[in-house]
Amino acid sequence: MESARADQRDELEAALAPFGRVDDLHERTRYERDWSGDHVGQARMVLRPRSTGEVQEIIRRCAAAGVPVVPQGGHTGLVGGATPAGSGREVVVSLERMNRIRRIDPAGFAMVAEAGCILETVQNAAREADLYFPLSLSAEGSCQIGGNIATNAGGINVLRYGMTRELVLGLEAVLPDGRLFDGLGGLRKDNTGYDLKQLFIGSEGTLGIVTAATLKLYPRPTQVETALLGLSSVAQAVALFAQARRDMGDLMSAFELMPRACVELALDVTPDLRDPFDPAPVYILLEASAGELIELRAILERFLERAVEQELVADGAIAASTSQARDFWRIREGLIEGQVRRGRHLRTDVSIPISSIASFIERTETALRRFEPDCLPLSYGHVGDGNIHLNVLPPSGMDQSRIVPFLKHCEEIVFAELDRLGGSISAEHGIGRKKRAAFLARKSPVQLDLMKRVKAAIDPASLLSPGRILD
Ligand code: FAD
Ligand code: LAC
Ligand code: ZN
Repeated sequence: MESARADQRDELEAALAPFGRVDDLHERTRYERDWSGDHVGQARMVLRPRSTGEVQEIIRRCAAAGVPVVPQGGHTGLVGGATPAGSGREVVVSLERMNRIRRIDPAGFAMVAEAGCILETVQNAAREADLYFPLSLSAEGSCQIGGNIATNAGGINVLRYGMTRELVLGLEAVLPDGRLFDGLGGLRKDNTGYDLKQLFIGSEGTLGIVTAATLKLYPRPTQVETALLGLSSVAQAVALFAQARRDMGDLMSAFELMPRACVELALDVTPDLRDPFDPAPVYILLEASAGELIELRAILERFLERAVEQELVADGAIAASTSQARDFWRIREGLIEGQVRRGRHLRTDVSIPISSIASFIERTETALRRFEPDCLPLSYGHVGDGNIHLNVLPPSGMDQSRIVPFLKHCEEIVFAELDRLGGSISAEHGIGRKKRAAFLARKSPVQLDLMKRVKAAIDPASLLSPGRILD
C-alpha cells in the first residue's frame, strides 16, 4: 500500500518535472515564504509553466492525483494566500515565466498581458505606447498582474481609476478541472448573462488560475502635480479631502494620509531624504494629473490657497521638480520598510465610511494605548477610499514569545471598533489564510452559503488553494 502510494508520488513528480520544476532546495525557499516573512510553508513541488497549455496540463495531472495546487505571483500578498501550507502537500504554480505582453491596442485603449508580468512592466509597456495603466502600489516592482487580479488590488490611484476589478476588460483562466475559461475578448459592454470573469477577480486563486488578462488603459497624463501638506489632525485631512473632491474632481488621483510617526519611520530608512518642512501631526500626499489642455498647476494652487484660508492646511509644498515629487513618494514607500525594520508588527487593512475615519482612528488608537501604553499605533492609507492601515508596532524590547498574542489582542481591539461602524476587515489585501477566521465570523449565513456554493460548483474537490478564504 505504502509503496503503491510512493510509486504514484514518483510518477507525478516525473510527469510534472518538465514544467519548470525547481529542484534546487535553496532556490525553492524563495517560493515558500512571502515578502513579509510572516508566512513560511513547505511545497510538495514548485513549478513554473511557460504557457497556458502547460498550466492546463499541470492542473489536469494534479486533479487526477488529488493533489492541491496554489497559484503564486510575486508573493507580496500580505495574508498568506500564495505561500504553501506547512503540510508539504501543495504544489506551487508560479506564473513568473508567463510574462509576455501579448498585444497593445492603442485605439481600443487596451492591452493583453500574461499573468506573470510584473506590474511595473505593464505600466512601462503602456507608457511606451503613450498610454497609461493606473494601478500603482509600493510592491509594483515585484507583484504580478495575475496576483493583482486574484487579490483585486487597490493602491494609490483607486479614487480616480477604481480597484483592479475596474481595470480588467477580460481574462483567461484555467479551471480546477483543467478546462480553459477563455474570456479575453475585452468588450467594454457585454450584458449577456452573468459576467463570469468577475468571479475570478478577487478570488485569491480559489476558483481558477489566471493566465492572462485584457487590461483597460487610459490616456497618459502629460502633467502631474504632487503636493505634500502638513495638517493638524486627521479630522482636517478628511475635511480637506471633501474640499479637494469639490475643487479638483477627477483631476485628483491620490490622497494619502501619513501621521508624523510614519514620516519619521520613512526618514529613518532613507537617510538621503530630508524632513520636507516643520513637523506636522498629520501629512497628506496629494497627486493630481491631466492632459495638456488643462491648467492643472493653477487649479491645484487655487485649491490650496482656499484650503489655507479655511485653515485646513498649516504647511506644505508643491513639488518643484519630478525628483522632488519622487522624494515625496519615497516617504510614502519608506514608511512600509520602516515598519519592517522594527520587526514583527500588526498589519491591518480596514475600510470604514469616510466620514468615520477620524473618530475610528482616535477611538482605536486610544483603546490600543490603554491596553499597552508603549505600543506605537500607525494609521495611514487611502483616505479617499475609506481605507486605513491601522498598524501596531509592539513596544521595543518586548519578549519575542509575547509578540504574537500581543498582536492578536491588538487586532481584536481594531476589529471591535470596526464592527461598531460596520466596516470591513479587508479593504484591499484580501482574506487568504491569515484573516479567514475573522472573515468567517463576520459574514452572514446567506453570504457564506452562496460563497461555498460557488466554490463547490467550480472546484468541487477543493483542489485550488484549499483553506484560503473558506474552510
Ligand atoms: P501573490 O502574493 O503571489 O498572491 C496573492 C494571492 O493571489 C494568493 O492567494 C495567490 O494564490 C493568488 N494568485 C497569484 N497569482 C495568481 C494567478 N495568476 N491566478 C490566480 N491566483 C493567483 N495591496 C493593495 O491592494 N494595495 C496596496 O497599496 C498594496 N501595497 C503593498 C505594498 C507592499 C510593500 C507590499 C509588500 C504589499 C502591498 N500590497 C498592496 C499587497 C500585494 O502587493 C497585493 O495583494 C498584490 O496584488 C499581490 O500580488 P502578487 O503577485 O505578489 O500575488
Ligand atoms: C499600503 C499597503 C500596505 O497602502 O496596502 O501601503
Ligand atoms: Zn494600501
